[in-house]
Amino acid sequence: MRRLGLHQRQHAKPAGGGGGGVKGMIGRLLIAVVVVLICTISFIVTSTSNGGARSGSRSKMSLDELWRSADSVGWRPSSAPRSDWPPPPSETNGYLRVRCNGGLNQQRTAICNAVLAARIMNATLVLPELDANSFWHDDSGFRGIYDVEHFMKSLRYDVKIVEKIPEIRKNGKTKKIKAVQLRPPRDAPISWYTTDALVKMKEHGAIYLTPFSHRLAEEIDNPEYQRLRCRVNYHALRFKTNIMKLSQSIVDKLRAQGHFMSIHLRFEMDMLAFAGCFDIFNSKEQEILKKYRKENFAPKKLVYKERRAIGKCPLTPEEVGLILRAMGFNNSTRIYLAAGDLFGGERFMKPFRALFPHLENHSSVDPSDELAENTQGLSGSAVDYMT
Ligand SMILES: *[C@@H]1O[C@H](CO)[C@@H](O)[C@H](O)[C@H]1NC(C)=O
Ligand SMILES: *[C@@H]1O[C@H](CO)[C@@H](O)[C@H](O)[C@H]1NC(C)=O
Ligand SMILES: *[C@@H]1O[C@H](CO)[C@@H](O)[C@H](O)[C@H]1NC(C)=O
Ligand SMILES: *[C@@H]1O[C@H](CO)[C@@H](O)[C@H](O)[C@H]1NC(C)=O
Repeated sequence: MRRLGLHQRQHAKPAGGGGGGVKGMIGRLLIAVVVVLICTISFIVTSTSNGGARSGSRSKMSLDELWRSADSVGWRPSSAPRSDWPPPPSETNGYLRVRCNGGLNQQRTAICNAVLAARIMNATLVLPELDANSFWHDDSGFRGIYDVEHFMKSLRYDVKIVEKIPEIRKNGKTKKIKAVQLRPPRDAPISWYTTDALVKMKEHGAIYLTPFSHRLAEEIDNPEYQRLRCRVNYHALRFKTNIMKLSQSIVDKLRAQGHFMSIHLRFEMDMLAFAGCFDIFNSKEQEILKKYRKENFAPKKLVYKERRAIGKCPLTPEEVGLILRAMGFNNSTRIYLAAGDLFGGERFMKPFRALFPHLENHSSVDPSDELAENTQGLSGSAVDYMT
């Protein structure tokens, strides 16, 4: 289930026009959640209908099948270049700086795009800047969660990467190159990078793209470019050892007791405010959501009363629970809940817990100090991401 979720998230199309940023991320997640549910449900439906020889009755559906990995139906990993792929030219066209934004997953996608953009432009990539402040109040950045040496080393035949723009010496004086700030169009085509952006880069020596999320088209008619994005996502981007160790130990502990399911409910303030889902909340909660919406998202007229009916709202924890129970998972199923503050708190958690009393989170799995230190901010999200 988790695996399916991860995979779908990486490939889910961005949603929510314009704006990008937080908004884009939430749209993306909303779609991802829906896609995951649809995929899971259709997977169940297919596996029951394929099992026609068996009784066909829903209640006879084998849970063992649900726990197994889904068939890849012929899909296989595709990361290594398959045609002539020269190393980056020794002569650089300049430095590319980007500031990623959005949630952990959206920023990861942005890093993949930044590497590709640098490759396209024959530019030197400056280690991407992460935006952690909006959610995690954490500024540990790229170095705080990713293995930088591994990142640079695994992409050495693809792009040149530096930690920061070096100073240049000219006429005996050291000078800083100032990156000129540009705002790429949403889902910009490759041609934007080889024209507008390249001209500025050559003129100033460095450009700074911000905000940088959904700033390069997802569909590019060049398999090698797509493979490069896969190399970044699946090979070059590796969380730091402490994060990997910790998530592995959480997974080991959970597995030691049998199957478990990992869920990110996403019933969180930013998501609900963005989606305009206010109807099920009391007036005080509605006020909080409306205020958050006003402060964080571009104004847009929404008919709040309709949002749920037209499927724009995240499922409530209870709805998620009911779907899982209908799929055949009974009340002894263990569920690991990924971080994220449930909006509305216990009132919404209670019905979920009634359906699935065996809930875990990182503090319940391992209430040690090591965990407490590593589950703050970005690294906490990274640990849950891996779990
Ligand atoms: C980048 O370098 C390659 C190989 O040297 C060259 O074919 C390509 O035209 C260059 N592209 C840009 C945008 O400079
Ligand atoms: C829940 O399902 C599992 C696996 O099918 C089964 O072993 C277990 O007995 C069930 N528990 C309850 C309380 O129904
Ligand atoms: C789980 O459901 C069974 C009935 O299917 C019930 O007897 C049992 O008390 C429930 N367990 C918990 C922990 O709620
Ligand atoms: C984790 O679960 C425990 C016990 O169920 C709960 O008290 C705690 O608030 C949860 N922690 C988080 C971060 O959700």
